Amino acid sequence: MDKIVIEGGRPLKGRVKVGGSKNSALPLMAATLLTSKKVVLSNVPDLADVKTMLRLLQALGVQTRSLFGRVNFAATKIKKNEAPYDMVRRMRASVLVLGPLLARTGLARVSLPGGCAIGARPINLHLAALEKMGAKIKLAEGYVEAKCKRLKGARIVFEKVTVTGTENIMMAAALAKGTTVLENAAREPEIVDLANLLRKMGAQITGDGTSQITIEGVDELSGATHRVIPDRIEAGTFMVAAAMTRGDVVIEDIDPLHVDALSQKLRDAGAEVQVQNDQARVIGPKVVRPVDVITDPYPGFATDLQAQFMALMAIAAGTSTITETIFENRFMHVPELKRLGADLKIKGNTVVVKGVEHLNAAPIMASDLRASACLVLAGLASKGVTEIHRVYHIDRGYESIEKKLRKLGARIRRAKVKY
Ligand code: UD1
Repeated sequence: MDKIVIEGGRPLKGRVKVGGSKNSALPLMAATLLTSKKVVLSNVPDLADVKTMLRLLQALGVQTRSLFGRVNFAATKIKKNEAPYDMVRRMRASVLVLGPLLARTGLARVSLPGGCAIGARPINLHLAALEKMGAKIKLAEGYVEAKCKRLKGARIVFEKVTVTGTENIMMAAALAKGTTVLENAAREPEIVDLANLLRKMGAQITGDGTSQITIEGVDELSGATHRVIPDRIEAGTFMVAAAMTRGDVVIEDIDPLHVDALSQKLRDAGAEVQVQNDQARVIGPKVVRPVDVITDPYPGFATDLQAQFMALMAIAAGTSTITETIFENRFMHVPELKRLGADLKIKGNTVVVKGVEHLNAAPIMASDLRASACLVLAGLASKGVTEIHRVYHIDRGYESIEKKLRKLGARIRRAKVKY
């Protein structure tokens, strides 16, 4: 297993390019199951989760060819209808094949995801929506088995905003008979990206980016070529890193609108955030001001940036509160930050952060993807040498993170650990 070793205390300086969005690439890849024609995706990030999705699609019979972030998909024939436990266990987003498989072949068997480090994360809303569209759903031996002749359009009111739920049903509805209306749909940029690909494939979708999405089903979809949008969470992580190390970093190849909520909070914290076309320059403040944050579905403050922002608030000159409203257990980074000297108290779904002058290095352990990003940021701003264990989590969502940070002047390296 690997660990990351960081010699902290150096301001980050320079330019960094953000990769394609993981959370967009995964549903876009699943959407290639909807057609027998060739779909080409570019700007596909080289991440562990993307590799898992590629393996899953290949197991279902999709032929794939990858070259430098450009991936060709041909789901000429679906050979299997099952997403096995071993894949879903590794990556919950495997559940994104449920909607397209069912719509294309009339049968899908997908392992139930089970809980994960940040909460229970059920898929009941995906299943209720598919049932409303006429699917017969059975749960047996840890699997969901969904069957139908052809899905029918329906009006679906999501009880809670669900990102992958909205995506699964959009894909299923694209090939259903009749009109589907999704109410309380997710408005994330990744939803719009998926709708853009589906439209290029011939789907009839309107309203994406708002909370009401309408999909007129069609009989079949065609091939298309599409570029994955930039990763707003990777972009946001570098923005916080720049602020936290009192650095000066230009983050390139982003959509500044997608990181607007974070930009506002960073400005409130005293950072200078200059936005131009497809880049943002972040200059860290001398003194970090305390800022309260509440996570919310897009366009609110992203839960996927909550841990990173907490690391910044840990060195603010005053007390702030960070409230998590999306996942019930997303504070696994709190005890680790405390090991670095942060003063944090969990009160229900809020963490009260009393800023300290500086963090001090210590050996720490990553628990999930975004927590590991938070710990890397904390390490960059700590005095001394921080060792982060279980860093495999970070490879699920950040492409060449050490390389990119080294280019910005960080002293960071990966080393093997013998347990
Ligand atoms: C997606 C993102 C993840 C992000 C999250 C919230 C991908 C691959 N992952 O995850 O990075 O943190 O959105 O922005 O895009 N819920 C239910 N029943 C359901 C579905 C969801 O109760 O059937 C609950 C969840 O437990 C959670 C909330 O709804 O509390 C939001 O979850 P959801 O938006 O579905 O998250 P994901 O799509 O899994």
